Amino acid sequence: MRINRYLARAGVASRRASERLITAGRVTVDGRTITDLGTRVEPGEVVRLDGEIVTLPSSFTYILLNKPAGYVVTLSDPQGRRTVADLIKDVEAHVVPVGRLDVPTEGLIILTDDGDVAHRVTHPSFEIDKVYEVLAGGVLEEEDVRKLEEGVELDGRKTSPARVRVLSRERSSTRAEVTIHEGWKRQVRRMFEEVGHPVRKLVRVRIGPLELGSLPSGSWRHMTYAELTSLRDALGLGEH
Ligand code: URA
Repeated sequence: MRINRYLARAGVASRRASERLITAGRVTVDGRTITDLGTRVEPGEVVRLDGEIVTLPSSFTYILLNKPAGYVVTLSDPQGRRTVADLIKDVEAHVVPVGRLDVPTEGLIILTDDGDVAHRVTHPSFEIDKVYEVLAGGVLEEEDVRKLEEGVELDGRKTSPARVRVLSRERSSTRAEVTIHEGWKRQVRRMFEEVGHPVRKLVRVRIGPLELGSLPSGSWRHMTYAELTSLRDALGLGEH
């Protein structure tokens, strides 16, 4: 793989910023300082930045995508709608989306080829927080918050307790942060409909320890080594 890609995948810096590190002569491969951006790293070669060994996080690929509204979370859509695959065309690995977000919902979604991590992130028994910022119609009263937190009945099943933090109340809308562990179809939207406050905008801002942060809408990046370590920790998986 190309050296700038290697550094980016290792979480050192973006590909562009990695190119600057290379041209500045700060990177070595098997002890040779390299400044040629076309240099390839072969398996087994040792890459160092400022003398420190740089290792790839894993042989799996883990992508964080900020899904815009209007995209379907699938790799191909029989109806020909825009999908998340359109947004990650330049990713070579065969990654698949982890869990779902509705078409109008925005925000953080993981794509990976690591089936174990994918399973654990989505399975409620691992209790990985999924945190959403909600703009809901009307003023959410404390009574509504209590109902949402206790769990509401959807299709004859009660949702697990949620955490709801009201961020602001306007005259005809409320902003709130909602934390759940499950991923039922349209779960947050249906929970809010159930208490009479339809969702106008829904953005997933966190999955376990992974924050959406300032990743621009429609953009993706590799998970950093530190992020993968904390995610594996939260999932009860060991060193990688
Ligand atoms: N809850 C929803 O209603 N929609 C999503 O996309 C995710 C959670």
